[in-house]
Amino acid sequence: MSDRKPLISGNWKMHQNHFEAIQLVQKLSYVLTNEDVDAVDVSVHPPFTDIRSVQTVLEADRIPVSLGAQHCHWEEKGAFTGEVSPLMLAKLDVEYVICGHSERRELFGETDDDVNKKVHAILKAGMTPIMCCGETDAEREADQAEEKVSGQVRAGLAKVKPDQVAGMVIAYEPIWAIGTGKTATAEDAQAMCALVRATVSEVAGREAADSIRIQYGGSVKPNNAPELMTQPDIDGALVGGASLDADDFGRIVQYRLVESGS
Ligand code: PGA
Repeated sequence: MSDRKPLISGNWKMHQNHFEAIQLVQKLSYVLTNEDVDAVDVSVHPPFTDIRSVQTVLEADRIPVSLGAQHCHWEEKGAFTGEVSPLMLAKLDVEYVICGHSERRELFGETDDDVNKKVHAILKAGMTPIMCCGETDAEREADQAEEKVSGQVRAGLAKVKPDQVAGMVIAYEPIWAIGTGKTATAEDAQAMCALVRATVSEVAGREAADSIRIQYGGSVKPNNAPELMTQPDIDGALVGGASLDADDFGRIVQYRLVESGS
């Protein structure tokens, strides 16, 4: 076992208004125990309109969950209608920012180059990027999954210093498994996360590769979390649908209880 502390992140996508968001984090605080957060880092990624409300609840109730965002621009300020700057997020105590999610790439045209600029900007603002990568069904069928994923990792990490890479998070999310109920087998997920780590080693060195955390994402649920989470190169999960239910998300965070049979 590595000494990388797992990170389990809830990507709420475009769900929950700020009232619902407050209720969801409060429920989550009843479900999670001190032992859970000692063993696993947990982050929630609400929509922008909820971030200030969630920040206030996390702080007031001392809930040991980190605040995350789903997206940001790479510039600090300027004429970018509709965008949010990394500095604005950092000011709200956001710790983790997802970038390059496949929905942003596919639906909003985010390129590898955009993702790389965001990685630099998020790091510069003192936050941690959760940089996503993953192949489509067609790419997997055509035996191009490895090339696609290693290419995304190389491009996303371009010119990032190895000590910064070491503190980052990469989420491997096969696109065909997102929101579909289909999960990669634990063996396939492990093989792809190992490939991500080997790619990180090539571009940023062995030390960075040993300490970067690699999440698996794509239909992670309480029943499949234990097997995925115990793979040697999987250091956490990026959870969409199941993170909207405090009990389900809590059970995913508590994957090790299932593993030990308690
Ligand atoms: P899912 O989403 O868990 O609903 O498949 C994962 C993600 O898109 O991050």
